Amino acid sequence: MTLEIDVLTLFPAMLEGPLSDSIPGRIRERGLARIQTHDLRRWGLGRHRSVDDATYGGGAGMILRPEPVAAALDELRRADSTVILLDPAGEPFRQARAHQLAELPHLILVCPRYEGVDERIRGLVDLEISIGDYVLTGGELAALVVIDALIRLLPGAIEAESVAEESFANGLLEYPQYTRPATFRGQGIPAVLTGGDHGAVRTWRLKESLRRTLLRRPDLLVERSFSPEEERLRDEVAQEEG
Ligand code: ADE
Repeated sequence: MTLEIDVLTLFPAMLEGPLSDSIPGRIRERGLARIQTHDLRRWGLGRHRSVDDATYGGGAGMILRPEPVAAALDELRRADSTVILLDPAGEPFRQARAHQLAELPHLILVCPRYEGVDERIRGLVDLEISIGDYVLTGGELAALVVIDALIRLLPGAIEAESVAEESFANGLLEYPQYTRPATFRGQGIPAVLTGGDHGAVRTWRLKESLRRTLLRRPDLLVERSFSPEEERLRDEVAQEEG
């Protein structure tokens, strides 16, 4: 099945480049995803195809009007569509949501520019997503982040093993990895990785995943449940780290 994504934006060129290059470009060429950008101005109002206006009550900047977004959605929305607004007030974007969205047939991403959106636009969408606690000049880079995170999860896009092992896949940060040379500026690599004992490698990796998560992102562990083995390794790590 092909994931279809339509993107509503005032700056289609901001997306075309990144989505045509590298892995996203190959994923599209191979037909795993169909991604199309649409210039929101096509649904703009009047002779100037206006899409924004000043905010009622006063304040800096222009905000996105609801009618162009509504008209665009009337044309693009299907029975199986999920409409997503990129907005700093949206749900924090996480890997679990990426997995869920990658299974859907059709997404429409709405990228606002300017100082924000008319509140009534929120009523037109199914989901609002934020890619982090900072403010971008528009939703385009956020849409790119979401699209990139989704399409790499599509079956056949990249090696299934990479997806299974990577950070967040099991609610933990990924373990440390090494390639050649065996010694770099006096630093070697953990002996277990060259010992040929696959069970020992697996246990070491799980333990180091737990260590890294405990030290760098303890917030990820708060809501996670642990297997007995994970509990034992986590306790070892906690002792080692004092
Ligand atoms: N638009 C502006 N800032 C954003 C953010 N952090 N996430 C999603 N969309 C945005």
